[in-house]
Amino acid sequence: MHEDVTKILFSAEEIDACVKRMGAQISADFAGEKVLLITVLKGAFVFMADLVRAIEGDVEIDFMAVSSYGAEAKSSGIVRIIKDLEGSIEGRHVLIVEDILDSGLTLRYLSKNLKSRGPLSVGVATLLLKEGKQETDVTCKYVGLRCPDEFVVGYGLDYAERYRNLPYIGILDPKVYS
Ligand code: IMP
Ligand code: MG
Repeated sequence: MHEDVTKILFSAEEIDACVKRMGAQISADFAGEKVLLITVLKGAFVFMADLVRAIEGDVEIDFMAVSSYGAEAKSSGIVRIIKDLEGSIEGRHVLIVEDILDSGLTLRYLSKNLKSRGPLSVGVATLLLKEGKQETDVTCKYVGLRCPDEFVVGYGLDYAERYRNLPYIGILDPKVYS
């Protein structure tokens, strides 16, 4: 275990089983339809890589990059699009792939933004949901794992760009950011 991590919340094996479950559910729901997975960089890149291989059927991917946090462990509420989609989503089923739903402000902004582009549907798949933290009612059809209100890192999730490479998800020692 990394010395800055105080507790492992989800092991690589638990994450793997969860992602496979989510993939099977998405495959069943979109059977016979095309779906475009939109990954929110950077945090969701690891989840996306595993999720796309757990989905059977016609899948395409695109990327967006937004920033809601600076080098701080709390949401600023300000969402900035750093990189937009390459293609049009008009008339397509899109599924936003997120690493973690905290306040929900990032997703609320993204869903609204994408819905204004004329897609057939906009769904959300998040690997993690922070319990009791949502300040807004974003509906998330696919939720992987519920985590306590702690700052977590690993499996793509960072603090100040570090720890994305950890194969598990763990609680970051508050001494790192206080
Ligand atoms: P929200 O707008 O508060 O829902 O924040 C969503 C984004 O903040 C996520 O996509 C992450 O990139 C980041 N984030 C929120 N909580 C954590 C955490 O515990 N660890 C790492 N990143 C987080
Ligand atoms: Mg993110």
